[in-house]
Amino acid sequence: MIAKGAYLARMGDCVACHSVPDGKPFAGGLAMATPMGTIYSSNITPDRQTGIGAYSLQAFARAVREGRLPDGTHLYPAMPYASYAKISDDDIRALYAYFMQGVGPVNLASKPAEMRFPFGIRKLMSVWNLAFYDASDFDDKASENAQIARGAYLTEGLAHCGACHTPRGFGQQEKGLTGKDPDFLTGASVEGWTAPALRAKDGPGVGTWSAQDIADLLLSGRSVHSGVTGPMTDVIANSTQYASREDAMAMAAYLKSLPSGATKDAAPKFVASDQTANDLRNGITRTLGARLYVDNCAACHRSSGSGEKSAFPALAGNPLVLADDPSSLIHVILAGATLPSTQAAPSDLGMPHFAGRMNDDETAELATFVRSAWGNKAAAVNASQVAAVRKTLPASITKQVAEQDHK
Ligand code: HEC
Ligand code: HEC
Ligand code: HEC
Repeated sequence: MIAKGAYLARMGDCVACHSVPDGKPFAGGLAMATPMGTIYSSNITPDRQTGIGAYSLQAFARAVREGRLPDGTHLYPAMPYASYAKISDDDIRALYAYFMQGVGPVNLASKPAEMRFPFGIRKLMSVWNLAFYDASDFDDKASENAQIARGAYLTEGLAHCGACHTPRGFGQQEKGLTGKDPDFLTGASVEGWTAPALRAKDGPGVGTWSAQDIADLLLSGRSVHSGVTGPMTDVIANSTQYASREDAMAMAAYLKSLPSGATKDAAPKFVASDQTANDLRNGITRTLGARLYVDNCAACHRSSGSGEKSAFPALAGNPLVLADDPSSLIHVILAGATLPSTQAAPSDLGMPHFAGRMNDDETAELATFVRSAWGNKAAAVNASQVAAVRKTLPASITKQVAEQDHK
């Protein structure tokens, strides 16, 4: 039971929000900025005084699935209870057993939220819940196919993939919580990155992958098409790499089963073409962007834009490259990226950062080239878009760039 609960806690990625870097697992304290103010995750270790040690099974179930504390206080939806509402009674029991008996108690008081008026009034959350939250939404008989039903259970519920991949509405609510909602998993922007559409019929990218490719990505952080970057790296490192192959395949099969969503693009964003590869191999570089690509990128990502299997992601037809919002692409070029080291693929392959090597105009030219080469069809990038992303780079990168400039 405890082992099962530990597995489910991985699938729910509880540790991602309920720990701080270098802190004790599940002791909470992670600051989460929301448009309504800053929220801190709680201590969910079994410490009786500062954690959830005094919680009954019922109290635990209510907090996780309904966002209510034992005294009735409402939690903010930064805790993804709207998705967790789908967790079965059996799985709640296993999670409870794990948190009570498999996790060590840590005595550390949770920090109160710092919300802007009127959001500090937790009672308002009952209005939010009435408007946006519907536990009955989930239908575990949604599919006749047992594998797809299991995939729906995990993807819509515990794994809360929609928290990042579903667009949010005016109340910060996810605009859909199940596959029946046309907005569910149609892509969204998170922390300056673009989480692409996962609905299998909606290209580019994931929509055209096989279930096997999607499962590979979840288990190892890479597939024959691409590798992950940004917030998805943590999802894989903390959570999906530990999925059983059956569960990873179930999530993939579920994604493949979803019909087109609300935001399906009218025109395909990628139609493979040999033109760019032939030009580059023959030394034909018509634009500054193409020249920058040959000098800085082709060694790893190749003239063909097809990368190197399981090492360097393909840029041709890549969803991150083709996203309407180019922020993720700009972010990767400026800040570089490291593939997560996973059980299935242990290395830490990296891409260097280019923030110090290219100015905003050059970065925009290069990004525009990458978004239009090899049959990619995405809008051009301008220097002000690059400048906006540059402002969000982590201090570790800006410091290295400043040191390079100094030399
Ligand atoms: C996306 C971030 C996120 C994830 C993932 C997450 N939580 Fe939370 N959780 C929070 C935040 C933030 C709070 C505090 C909310 C508040 O103060 O209103 C919270 C509060 C709680 C509480 C209430 C504790 C108390 O007494 O204050 C429990 C219990 C809890 N989470 C359990 C879990 C479990 C179990 C999982 C995994 C299945 C999980 N959480 C995953 C963000 C998260
Ligand atoms: C914390 C936010 C977050 C959560 C939760 C999340 N994702 Fe992602 N995901 C992202 C971002 C951002 C990207 C874009 C970066 C990239 O493509 O590597 C992404 C990319 C992806 C991709 C495309 C990868 C590629 O290389 O093109 C797949 C497939 C994916 N996610 C599946 C999932 C599934 C399935 C879940 C639930 C188990 C999930 N994601 C949960 C943020 C998230
Ligand atoms: C030394 C080899 C190397 C060089 C040079 C390099 N990259 Fe990368 N690149 C990688 C690796 C490895 C990854 C995978 C890292 C990850 O996704 O976390 C990657 C990832 C990417 C991604 C994200 C793909 C995805 O699906 O998440 C993009 C976009 C990208 N590179 C573009 C470029 C561009 C443009 C240049 C030239 C400025 C460049 N790279 C130079 C090795 C390299």
